[in-house]
Formats: sequence, structure tokens, C-alpha cells
Amino acid sequence: MDARHGIGGSLAGTDLGAEIDRLRKDRNAVILAHYYQKPELQDLADYVGDSLELSRKAADTDAEVIAFCGVRFMAETAKILSPDKIVVLPDMDAGCSLEDSCPPDKFRAFREAHPDHIALTYINCSTEVKALSDVIVTSSSAETILAQIPKDQPIIFGPDRHLGGYLNRKFGREMLLWPGVCIVHEAFSERELLKLMAQHPGAPVAAHPECPPHIVEHADLVGSTSAILQFARTFEGDTLIVATEPHIIHQMEKALPDKTFIGAPGADGNCNCNICPYMALNTMEKLYLALRDLEPRIEIEETLRLKARRSLDRMLEMASGTIGMGDLGRV
Ligand code: 13P
Ligand code: SF4
Repeated sequence: MDARHGIGGSLAGTDLGAEIDRLRKDRNAVILAHYYQKPELQDLADYVGDSLELSRKAADTDAEVIAFCGVRFMAETAKILSPDKIVVLPDMDAGCSLEDSCPPDKFRAFREAHPDHIALTYINCSTEVKALSDVIVTSSSAETILAQIPKDQPIIFGPDRHLGGYLNRKFGREMLLWPGVCIVHEAFSERELLKLMAQHPGAPVAAHPECPPHIVEHADLVGSTSAILQFARTFEGDTLIVATEPHIIHQMEKALPDKTFIGAPGADGNCNCNICPYMALNTMEKLYLALRDLEPRIEIEETLRLKARRSLDRMLEMASGTIGMGDLGRV
């Protein structure tokens, strides 16, 4: 089979980094990567960021092609915000357990059962669910946006019950929670975390709010990936325990080579079970093919896109000024 015609052909001997670079220029493409991507993808991306930062980049870019190294809901967000661009995702199977937990028909029924509630929805959901929502949030913008919604306004929050529960506890809200979880953050073990904390007395813990309460309650910082990274740049001490997807540690080690960053463990004492299996589907080979073939491509039906765009635009307006800092202290 001709190596130029798909994954069945061999790419052995191809300098993928150089080829990706060539194609990026030929295609006038921008490569966006989330912090949970493999280090080699983070290193060749034009921008690495959290969900909010990558949404803003996608909305603002002059490039003709967006190659999104992340998961499908992120690439769909890029297409919703930049409909005239070609948006490619190296592996179309890169989904998300939170998205899977929230089928649009069930979400619609839940909304209809609570007509006086608005839907504040985590960006980790399908385009259809975004279209059924009032305001989208990311983990770095959720607090800023929630603070702008009157306390007596009833709210449905989905699909992440841990992020919603964290916000409820922190702000004294009573949002109705959709029962979804992130399988990656759900897998951290409190017992193993406590063991690790005992082995490294004084080492702070930074946790993503997708973690369950029994992990978050031990954290010195709870925040988005960009907030965790910001904390890593500023904490005093030499060791940080990181309770989120461990590929983010790549950025920490690059920025602070003299400090030690330890991924919080799962139940077997090994942090490998906390690698996001969806994010991990993207590879250098698939990115190369995506830029070469401009496939797999994100396409969204226009009426649906416009509905989803409303809730995303509200997020971008209400989040303005948010730089992704989380909060210090326990909730
Ligand atoms: P943030 O990068 O916005 O913190 O989101 C984390 C995440 O789980 C993305 O899937
Ligand atoms: Fe979804 Fe969790 Fe993976 Fe993020 S880490 S993409 S929330 S499964």
C-alpha cells in the first residue's frame, strides 16, 4: 500500500516532527494542544493550554486550519467558534466520559422537568448539550461565571457532579447536579494519596475540581489545569503532589527542572491509571495524517452550531478577565 494513502501504509523512516512542521506551514495551520496530551504533541504545538485558553485561541486564530490535539468536545468547540476554519482532530474516537454520561435526549428531559432552572453546563459535553444550555463554563471560568448569577436563580449543573458539588460547597449554592464523572479524576485513591503525603511531609497537593470530595479535601489548591500550573510555578518548597491527569507534569518539569512533581496515585498505588485514555489516542502519526489529509474533520450542522454558539459566547463574555487562577485553601 502507498504510504501516502492512510494509516495502513508505513510511516517508518518519516521524520514526523519535520513533516508536521512543513504541513503546518503549507496548510496555514495552527496546532492547539491540551495539557493532557503526550509531551511530544505539547512540544510541537503552537499553543498549549486549558479548555478556556484553547477556546479563546480557536476563536481568535487567523489560521485556515486548526489541528486540535485534545478531545472531540474541544475540537467541536473550536469549530463552533470558528466555523470558517477547517478543524481536524487526529483521532475522532477521542471522546470524554463526561460527554458520554450526558445524552442530549436525557438532558433535554431533565431540563424540561425543571423549567424554572437555567442550565450552567461544563464545556465537557456534546454540541447538542451545549445547544440545550444557557451558559457554558470551564473549570477556570466556573467560579467567575457563577458569581454573576443571582443566588435565588435555580440552576442545573452538568455533567460533572464533582465540579458542581465543589462549586455548591464553596459558594453555598444548591445547583441540581447531573450525575456524570470523569473516569480519570474519579480513579485517584484517598488511601494512596494519604500514604504519599506521609512520605513527603509538607509537600502541597494541587487537585483539579473534577476530583471527588475525598481527594479535593486534602488539596492546598483546587483549580483548573492552568491554575495548577500557575501554582506549580509559585509554591514554596521542592515537591508538589499533582492530582490531575499526569501529562501536565511535562510543563512543570520544563518550567521548573529543579523541583519534583509527583502524580497522585490510583488505587493500585500507580498513577498510570490516571492517564486519560481518550487524550492518549492522539499520536504524532495521527496528527501528521490529519494535517496531510485534512481528515478527520469536524462538521456541525449550522442550526445546531448557532444554538451551541450562544451558550459559548455567554461563557466568553462572562469569563472575560479570568486568567485561570484557582483558589488557595480547602473547601
Ligand atoms: P481544564 O484544562 O479546563 O482544567 O479541563 C480539564 C479537563 O478535564 C479537560 O478534559
Ligand atoms: Fe474527559 Fe476526564 Fe479525559 Fe478530561 S480527563 S477528557 S474530563 S475523561
